[in-house]
Amino acid sequence: MNETLERWSSRRAFILAVTGAAVGLGNIWRFPYITGENGGAAFLMLYVAFVVLLGVPVMMAEILVGRAGRRSPMQSLAYLASAASASGHWRWLGLFGALTVFCILSFYSVVSGWSIEFLSQSLRGEFVGRSAQEIGAGFDAFLANPARMAVNHSLFLLMTMLVVAGGVAKGLERLNNVLMPLLYLLLLVLAGHAATTSGFTTALAWLFTPDLSAVSPMVLVHAMGHAFFTLAVGACALMAYGAYMPDQQSLPRAAASVAVLDVGVALLAGIAIFSVVFSQGMDPGQGPGLMFVTLPVAFADLPFGAFWLSLFFLLLLLATWTSSINLAEPIVATLQGWGLGRGRATAVVGLAVWALGLLSVLSFSTMADVEVLFGMNVFALVSTIPPEIFLPVGGLLIAIFAAWVMPETIARHALGVGPGGFRLWRNLVRWVSIPLTLVVLGSGLL
Ligand code: PFF
Ligand code: NA
Repeated sequence: MNETLERWSSRRAFILAVTGAAVGLGNIWRFPYITGENGGAAFLMLYVAFVVLLGVPVMMAEILVGRAGRRSPMQSLAYLASAASASGHWRWLGLFGALTVFCILSFYSVVSGWSIEFLSQSLRGEFVGRSAQEIGAGFDAFLANPARMAVNHSLFLLMTMLVVAGGVAKGLERLNNVLMPLLYLLLLVLAGHAATTSGFTTALAWLFTPDLSAVSPMVLVHAMGHAFFTLAVGACALMAYGAYMPDQQSLPRAAASVAVLDVGVALLAGIAIFSVVFSQGMDPGQGPGLMFVTLPVAFADLPFGAFWLSLFFLLLLLATWTSSINLAEPIVATLQGWGLGRGRATAVVGLAVWALGLLSVLSFSTMADVEVLFGMNVFALVSTIPPEIFLPVGGLLIAIFAAWVMPETIARHALGVGPGGFRLWRNLVRWVSIPLTLVVLGSGLL
């Protein structure tokens, strides 16, 4: 098994794959609207703290397990558990991860479909000369049209599953590599342009001067969940990528650079979006539509705005495409592990995700008031519980496995650092990441 798995051609290819998984809707769509709903700076500060104290160390734990196992997540967990003479039940963690990404992919595909809609509207010049109110009204009309939303959702999922079935994800990551700097550049221009708008200073103050009295247990839960979500940690999806990591690469360095890039994209998007919000007197806590009704306004002020806006949605689609491929992979791999062929497994996963996604589509019209659980409709439920509860629980178990269960020599070798570095990482996971996750989850439950 060890020999048959192909390694990433280079360290760079591995970083690219992980960055492709990390940077996506979480940064540009979810980060701004969750920050808006949770009052701004205090949330942002907590989220960055959780990225550093939980996200990065647990990302290392997750990739380390895959790298040490050199197998699919379930098989790696089973193999390493037996090497430590621990329970074989650890392998179910891989299944839990597959269930988590299954739920996430169902709404991820729907929202990526919104990007397809905005790309095509932008290409038709729909946003030119429109006011913020008109753009908001157009978005509401789109949400109320389940047929159109379903078509876009189907299209995006088809794009994803074709790549997964064809095993051409690496080609896409290379393309992503070329275009990612362009996305960064575009966001930099937008953030720079935001500096010239009337809402800029309010936006900065709102994002960067924390009011600690605004922190509640639920804000902690949201911030922690988002840290896991944005880094793609806690669902064994990165564990699957770890199996292909080259032997010589330093894992801490790779994890840290992905985190810096990921947080950077979110901050730039946040500055651009909240400058529009405060310039236009909009509500920062308006929810999932936030990015879609603000960025067209921001671009409208730029010369050739329609062109840049179209390019932006194209790049965003590419970023979400590589993330959704990473989301689909562990589910397909699990079915393959049960003996299904690659093509058939992809088709089954695609159909199931598509069906669940349709319920998210309807959550903006006919099923808006259908409360499934905790007073939430389907979209609210799948876009909250899996990212904010399942990912931290999965991350917690992965961290316990890597820092307490795995044999030390295997773990140290897989982390790719010296004994001192290994101790540091393990102490951080044992005495900070694990207890902190438990405390936040516990406080959320109460
Ligand atoms: N990290 C992705 C984003 O920020 O859009 C979302 C994601 C991908 C979450 C893969 C979880 C995952 F396993
Ligand atoms: Na992200």
